Amino acid sequence: MPAAEHKRAVIFDTDIGIDDAMALLFLHYAPTIEIVGITTRFGNASVENTTNNALAVAEKFSISAAVYKGAAGPLGNRLGEGFPTHVHGENGMGNIELGKPSLQAESIDAAHAIVNLCKQHESLSIVAVGGLTNIAAALALDASIAQQLDDVVIMGGAFGYSGHRGNVSPVAEANIASDPLAADIVFSSEIQTSVVGLDVTHEVVFGKDFIQELAARAGEAGRFIREATDYYLNFYHSLSGEYQCPLHDSCAVAFLLRPDLFTTVQQPVRVVSEGIAIGQTIHSNDIRRYVSEEWDGIPKSNVCTAVDAAGVLDLYQSTLALAGE
Ligand code: BDR
Ligand code: CA
Repeated sequence: MPAAEHKRAVIFDTDIGIDDAMALLFLHYAPTIEIVGITTRFGNASVENTTNNALAVAEKFSISAAVYKGAAGPLGNRLGEGFPTHVHGENGMGNIELGKPSLQAESIDAAHAIVNLCKQHESLSIVAVGGLTNIAAALALDASIAQQLDDVVIMGGAFGYSGHRGNVSPVAEANIASDPLAADIVFSSEIQTSVVGLDVTHEVVFGKDFIQELAARAGEAGRFIREATDYYLNFYHSLSGEYQCPLHDSCAVAFLLRPDLFTTVQQPVRVVSEGIAIGQTIHSNDIRRYVSEEWDGIPKSNVCTAVDAAGVLDLYQSTLALAGE
């Protein structure tokens, strides 16, 4: 049987900024994956910029998946406003010159594309590395996608494992806080979700050595990552005094490829959608019988609680090295 028949079909749902681009290249060069669509949304930059970034990266690296423009704003309240230009630059890609791609986004939007792709593929996963607006919108169009999808692997949330808390409030992570209502809809749906939060992404950090190795091993992809991550490393240096960044979005790809690198608990997850804890992700616990019924009847998610960080970093390097061959 040809190798292509064994490939796993994946939609990459993204607010594509710097670490999202690293994750997209990770998926693209993973031999077992076929990217069947790229759906964009606001987040690290406006949806106009993130769509341009997706098209530019797809064109530069001959990623054949169609790009579908998605949500320009959240379904419900979000924490904060504007875009994190101090983290991802004005264009969401560390201000590196991407030019205007000749590729164009498809005429249907991201939510409709997710529904259509679910019907076209017998087996389909989503790697969601922005907020969950597009997936919640797709569920509103057609709730049966919950059964059609194999799973959705989500970079988002923070549950307090290993002392890791929020990055946009003491309790909230940026993707989930950008649309808490959408996240709560997705976690409360019948979709099989896996949550790769700050609990593990803050354990998987890279520095300049990692980037130099990529630049040496991964050809044009490595050089592109070196250029794009310069701004990102400088931001993290301004926070901690060290050139060390979490490999956030690529951890979701690593979970899809090698779930054995992660420790998980299976618990229902809810998201706080208003008030001072807006965007907080909270999982239930089997040990107690609660007075609250808010987690009753919510399907269980796989929540990542620990990670083999060296294993994820090695997997990233060895996969990207295929780009240099
Ligand atoms: C998440 O927020 C975004 O800035 C990153 O791309 C990542 O998806 C981390 O909190
Ligand atoms: Ca992202």
